[in-house]
Amino acid sequence: MKEKILKALRGSRGFISGQQLCEMLGVSRTAVWKHIRQLQSEGYEIEAVTNRGYRLVGSPDILASREVESYLTSQWIGRPILYFSSTDSTNLAAKRLGEDGEKEGALVIADEQTAGRGRSGRRWETPAGANIAMTLLLRPKIAADRISMITLVMGMAVAQAVRSLYDLPAMIKWPNDIVIGSRKLCGILTEMSAELTGSGSAQPKVNYIVIGTGINANQREFPEELREKATSLIMELRHPVDRAKLIAQVMQLFEEYYSLFAGTQDMTPLRDSYNAMLVNTGREIRVLEPGKEYEGTAEGINDRGELMIRLPDGQLRAVYAGEVSVRGIYGEYV
Ligand code: BTN
Repeated sequence: MKEKILKALRGSRGFISGQQLCEMLGVSRTAVWKHIRQLQSEGYEIEAVTNRGYRLVGSPDILASREVESYLTSQWIGRPILYFSSTDSTNLAAKRLGEDGEKEGALVIADEQTAGRGRSGRRWETPAGANIAMTLLLRPKIAADRISMITLVMGMAVAQAVRSLYDLPAMIKWPNDIVIGSRKLCGILTEMSAELTGSGSAQPKVNYIVIGTGINANQREFPEELREKATSLIMELRHPVDRAKLIAQVMQLFEEYYSLFAGTQDMTPLRDSYNAMLVNTGREIRVLEPGKEYEGTAEGINDRGELMIRLPDGQLRAVYAGEVSVRGIYGEYV
């Protein structure tokens, strides 16, 4: 009920009368008042004015499912939300749910991770009360070698959400970091459960994937070794952000972009928008492939989400996201 009241308050431009709330929610005025009092005691600033009604003036930065749900406008992405105040890793939690048959679209959110996972086996720190750690569970019916493109789709959703909510120049560092200037704001780690079917198909069958997204939101400073490489929204904006609102916006945009992606099962419909936010374009980069290393100039992604690189001899080479690490944004070539 509190969640419905919050949604109604957020949906109205000014005041909403007690009578309107009673009718919308099918409860008595006393019940509405009781819930409003509870919300106020939890830190929501709700103005109550005789003959006008109620108005939401401010929300605490808490990440309870109710908060995110009150902003959520997506149809199936981010539904349901499974919230943990602390967990080992939202990717691990989402995998456990994936094994247990949880439906696709479910979103795991944690306020704190005690064993957060980054790419290449690195750790990802998520101290309590500051950042966003969330993992989306999907069961895509596509070939396993197309899954890495879904990470690009999530990268677009995060970059666009940050742009539209805060007017910050968020860019994508291929394949899946979001940066502001030369500092990292967000990292994405997609993991897949797949099995060989034995039916003669060359591709394993995808059971589920988990797309883990870590956004530095309200963290005010970073340890020495990250200070030059990382940034957060609070550092860029000089005021804290409402994490729940940002999560809901990312889910809404991801749903839109993912439906376009699913239509063609590649990046054709999204390619131009992705390239418009790509920080690598026109820059010198170094590609580290297993066993070899080379340099070239990035020219944007192709329809399969591969990064096109112009080599010094003029040849164009496509680099597949799953195989390489691209250097050149955090420091060396900026
Ligand atoms: C990277 O190394 O850039 C990827 C970082 C991914 C971090 C997120 S936080 C939510 C989810 N849970 C994890 O354990 N990792 C991802």
